Amino acid sequence: MATELPDGFRYLPDFLSREHQQALVAAIRNVVLEAPLYTPEMPRTGKPMSVRMTNCGDLGWVTDRERGYRYQERHPVTGRPWPAIPPQLLDLWQSVSGYDKMPEACLVNFYGAEAKMGMHQDRDETDLAAPVVSVSLGDQCQFRIGGPARSDPTRSFRLSSGDVVVLGGRSRLSFHGVDRVFPTTSTLLKNGGRINLTLRRVNP
Ligand code: SIN
Ligand code: FE2
Repeated sequence: MATELPDGFRYLPDFLSREHQQALVAAIRNVVLEAPLYTPEMPRTGKPMSVRMTNCGDLGWVTDRERGYRYQERHPVTGRPWPAIPPQLLDLWQSVSGYDKMPEACLVNFYGAEAKMGMHQDRDETDLAAPVVSVSLGDQCQFRIGGPARSDPTRSFRLSSGDVVVLGGRSRLSFHGVDRVFPTTSTLLKNGGRINLTLRRVNP
């Protein structure tokens, strides 16, 4: 029984060549040198998330027990401004987003073998007309997407390294998450794991 995927959802399998993926990994390594991965906490409970995170761009998405989900200009651990978004990612945004303004934030999620991400909406942005553009690198994962209500039916499929997903239009506020990572399904990252890069426009 096929569940209709919401309008504006685009799945672009194998969008990035292996060379392009390698160049992105090198660029993200530089980001992480300047802005180290850290373990975010859920609002209120302070429960650690299983993914590690950092950001690049003018703004970065962060969460902790006291102040919850938000965007801010500085890394929560080092206090330094986020490094710039690598040019390859700005090019990617321009080729797939259909949006004239540039992204302000690029969230970097690192998933080890045990990491996952619960179903959620991306709704901390003021500009909901801009799509969310998401890139997968490294090990495959089981990605799940539903509709704008938590109770809407969901569909899941495997995302592989080099795949790009766009949540725009009526899918912009669709619930989505990552059920699991499939270890050793990619040779891109020498120590395994999965990187997800999420580009977002925050302010109109
Ligand atoms: C996210 O929704 O922040 C991450 C999605 C993914 O890892 O593919
Ligand atoms: Fe998300």
